[in-house]
Amino acid sequence: MNLKAYLSEKRELVEAAMAQLMLPAQGELSPHIEAMRYSLFAGGKRIRPILCLATCEALGEDPSPFMPVICSLECIHTYSLIHDDLPAMDNDDLRRGKPTNHVVFGEAEAILAGDGLLTFAFDLLSSADLQPALTAEKQLQIIAILSRASGSLGMVGGQAIDIASEGKEIPFETLRYLHSCKTGALITAAVQMGAVLGNASSSQYRALTTYGQNIGLAFQIVDDLLNVEGTTEQLGKKAGSDAELDKATYPSFFGLEATHKKAKEAVAQAVDALIPFNTSADPLRELANYIYYRKR
Ligand code: IPE
Ligand code: IPE
Ligand code: MG
Ligand code: MG
Repeated sequence: MNLKAYLSEKRELVEAAMAQLMLPAQGELSPHIEAMRYSLFAGGKRIRPILCLATCEALGEDPSPFMPVICSLECIHTYSLIHDDLPAMDNDDLRRGKPTNHVVFGEAEAILAGDGLLTFAFDLLSSADLQPALTAEKQLQIIAILSRASGSLGMVGGQAIDIASEGKEIPFETLRYLHSCKTGALITAAVQMGAVLGNASSSQYRALTTYGQNIGLAFQIVDDLLNVEGTTEQLGKKAGSDAELDKATYPSFFGLEATHKKAKEAVAQAVDALIPFNTSADPLRELANYIYYRKR
């Protein structure tokens, strides 16, 4: 299969759905909604929604009635980026090739834009319009997956450990845990949500969870590598910042060569988890490799 064409086709689908679902910037709330839209439509890779879509398709189901579920992932992810870039967090000025949200709108507005996107994700997920395509039971299951993955036992918790670990020596178990929470949890949730949408059996759900956890870990390891080996121009965000902030990362722990090996190992384990699936899971296999080979 041609992954480049696949990604661009799916990205277009996600962009169109988000344009349709996102609140329009009008009336009194216009500045607030404009700030949300600024980061949401700044051109991310849309990997989480695409993973959700690809998982649903790998199970032979049509994801098109579920676009609000699929787009909710990008709302949570974009909120996490806006807050991650704040002066009190990573203090970054550039994201997705554009000035960060707080640089354009100010800190208070950026915090609220993040809050707005986080909450809007659950607005999308809990909409009665999703029924009857989605049963109420599955809708609840999906809400439980995303809220757990986004909160203190997932992304937010990982961010808390990330910030608390700056400038400190931490054990490898903590580094692994922090990566699996701050980035792995939402990526795993994207796959699990696609599994629920695609009516996965419990053994399929377990295999897909293993796949998600491994690509989630690989994704953050590669993000760390790109921070060292990439350029600001290529990444659309500041290169070299992890070392400046003395972040706990895989390259700081193991060096570059061993870190590349660990990323590749995680990708291989992800692909192994897909052995029970037929060729309809090829996009998931290709996406796992893309996570290692991507250049931004
Ligand atoms: C960057 O995520 C932040 C991490 C969680 C590692 P992406 O690399 O998916 O960023 P976008 O969405 O393409 O901008
Ligand atoms: C981002 O981690 C994780 C979340 C936003 C949850 P990083 O701080 O390492 O990611 P970048 O490099 O700023 O995108
Ligand atoms: Mg960070
Ligand atoms: Mg950051």
